[in-house]
Amino acid sequence: MQNFVFDCKTKIIFGKGTEKTVGENMKALGSKVLFHHYGEGYIKECGLYDVIMDSLKTAGLEVVELTGVKPNPEVGLVRTGVEICKKEKIDCILAVGGGSVMDSAKAIGLGALYEGDVWDFFEHRAPMTRMLPIGVISTIPATGSEMSDTSVMTNDEGHLKRHIADTVLRPAFAILNPELTYTLPPYQTAVGGVDIFSHVVERYFTQEPEVDYTDRLCEATMRTVIKNLPLVMEDGKNYAARAEIMLAAPWAQNGLLGMGRIEDWGSHMMGHEISGIYNTAHGATLSIIMPQWMKYVYKDNVDRFAQYAVRVWDADAGWDKEKQALYGIEKTREFFRSVCVPVTLKEAGIDESRLEEMAEKCCLNGPVGGFRPLYKEDVLAIYQSALQ
Ligand code: NZQ
Ligand code: ZN
Repeated sequence: MQNFVFDCKTKIIFGKGTEKTVGENMKALGSKVLFHHYGEGYIKECGLYDVIMDSLKTAGLEVVELTGVKPNPEVGLVRTGVEICKKEKIDCILAVGGGSVMDSAKAIGLGALYEGDVWDFFEHRAPMTRMLPIGVISTIPATGSEMSDTSVMTNDEGHLKRHIADTVLRPAFAILNPELTYTLPPYQTAVGGVDIFSHVVERYFTQEPEVDYTDRLCEATMRTVIKNLPLVMEDGKNYAARAEIMLAAPWAQNGLLGMGRIEDWGSHMMGHEISGIYNTAHGATLSIIMPQWMKYVYKDNVDRFAQYAVRVWDADAGWDKEKQALYGIEKTREFFRSVCVPVTLKEAGIDESRLEEMAEKCCLNGPVGGFRPLYKEDVLAIYQSALQ
């Protein structure tokens, strides 16, 4: 087992009606709040906006709003947010939405306490030492940004999608009410579930031996998603199943499941290049890439893939390891297909024209992936295998 530090300060406030506590929770972070969200749409229609405003006002907080976050958030809006924070002397940020809003808020929080351009952080030209404190209300269980140390940002100039990670980026608190996810369209529910599952896969496939405890935590989390995602696809108002998924999301991504392991993340890097150019939903890039990545690398550690198949997919323990490993990979792909997300680039409307460019950009700073380092030729081969 590798040495590690697990440092997660985020307070979780879970359950029905918890969004009403947002005012008192934000008050602990400051008195002037930047309220960051997508804008119109469900947040207003379902009444969440009014509940939040009431709670913030009752707590005596001053509120400035910044809306307009789009999926795969862009650094342009972050720059606007940074200017507002500096001009209005904002103390803290409230992010209400999914990964795109939370990541945008994290970047604004960093930029607000920095003199230079916020994109510097995403080019690793500036150290992350301080961020305005952030509270979140998550409306889509997916990225785990509500508890994670990560922010992922797109820069339309050059179609770049880049991530940064540091414990400074963890929110102070996260309010999680599964009822707020009832309005999610089936596709968003499904790609969110795939993302949660994939965060575990990125940690599960390690070459680090003897990591039994976290193996078991990973397997439990994956089985929870496998059981509950079809239930919420069938009935979007199944509270019990929505709650399981909502709980799995932050714990899949807060670092707990990676303790002592060398993680992979190659599939995420390959997926980011797809979103950077085609604006594809993040989870859909993973349902396309991850099974192909598995096929490409499984021979490097057949035992681990066989264990995954037996413990997560109930493969026959009597089969030989190769057969088990291939069974687990096929079951993964079938699972993604069963919740109606794309499993080929073609299904996502992507052809071969820019695969070379994506592979090049993916490996710009060297090979990707901790399980097996992947070079440009490997990445290109995986993209090609995912075409149809
Ligand atoms: O814009 P509207 O119509 O309001 O729709 C939103 C949004 O467009 C909709 N939505 C969210 N909650 C809803 C809802 N619709 C109805 N009811 C609700 N309760 O969902 C759409 C997608 O939202 P978005 O925030 O983009 O989704 P997600 O949470 O999947 O975030 C994806 C972003 O997070 C990054 C991804 O790369 C991507 O940029 N990631 C962040 C990570 C992190 N910070 O730790 C790790 C991940 O691996 C990931 O890379
Ligand atoms: Zn992800």
